[in-house]
Amino acid sequence: MGVRLRGVTRRYPGLTALDAVDLEIADGEAVAVTGPSGSGKSTVLHLLGGMDRPDEGVVEVDDKELTSRQLDAHRRRVGFVFQRFHLLPALTVLDNVLAPVLPRRVDFDRRSRALELLEAVGLSARADALPSELSGGQQQRVAISRALINRPGLLLADEPTGNLDSATGREIIDLLLSLRERYGMTMLLTTHDPEVAVACDRIVRLHDGRIVSDEQVAPAADVFDRLGGLRP
Ligand SMILES: Nc1ncnc2c1ncn2[C@@H]1O[C@H](COP(=O)(O)OP(=O)(O)OP(=O)(O)O)[C@@H](O)[C@H]1O
Ligand SMILES: [Mg+2]
Repeated sequence: MGVRLRGVTRRYPGLTALDAVDLEIADGEAVAVTGPSGSGKSTVLHLLGGMDRPDEGVVEVDDKELTSRQLDAHRRRVGFVFQRFHLLPALTVLDNVLAPVLPRRVDFDRRSRALELLEAVGLSARADALPSELSGGQQQRVAISRALINRPGLLLADEPTGNLDSATGREIIDLLLSLRERYGMTMLLTTHDPEVAVACDRIVRLHDGRIVSDEQVAPAADVFDRLGGLRP
């Protein structure tokens, strides 16, 4: 799924969270949004996910304007991962993954898809555990499975490693990137961690609601080539 902000402004009383932002993300891209606290990172994710609406400008999905009427359908095509996991403590791991689709009629087998996704994040053995019995990294893996239950075309992750130590955070980023490949998703994440950002294809930096830099990350192989062909 390709997504775009075109001249998007989002205001709150007394402040402009996003100021005429233009941002285009191609289908299949993995983009890190960085910048200081309050610069507008989460606002970008919420607008692209259809959880928030611009005051000016338009949000586009696959080159078509996202209208208010399409918001519910759009949200079902988007997966969302949060810093604090937001698992339901009384439900098992499997039921947490199933939770988004339990109240709805769906055209797939819920349970087998949930089990497939737990397998994909390496947690099939813990399907019957409670969230409190898991480590932070494992809880985030469950939250990632839950985000994928509707086979989203766009995965949005708001500081997905913010509550994890750096080694676990790195594992979670590698997992997100490999799931992006496997399921053919576009991915947008926010982070304060430069190591997380450089794992993505592209880094967009915000400051006071404006984009101040937008750079492709050189693949590691290119960097080694430039250093004289020394590959590890
Ligand atoms: N519901 C709201 N009501 C009022 N102001 C808000 C609201 N949501 C966000 N803001 C303001 O909009 C600005 C951008 O917020 P946003 O959450 O996008 O920042 P952020 O870059 O994600 O910050 P952080 O790194 O702390 O998560 C901030 O100044 C914030 O206080
Ligand atoms: Mg934020």
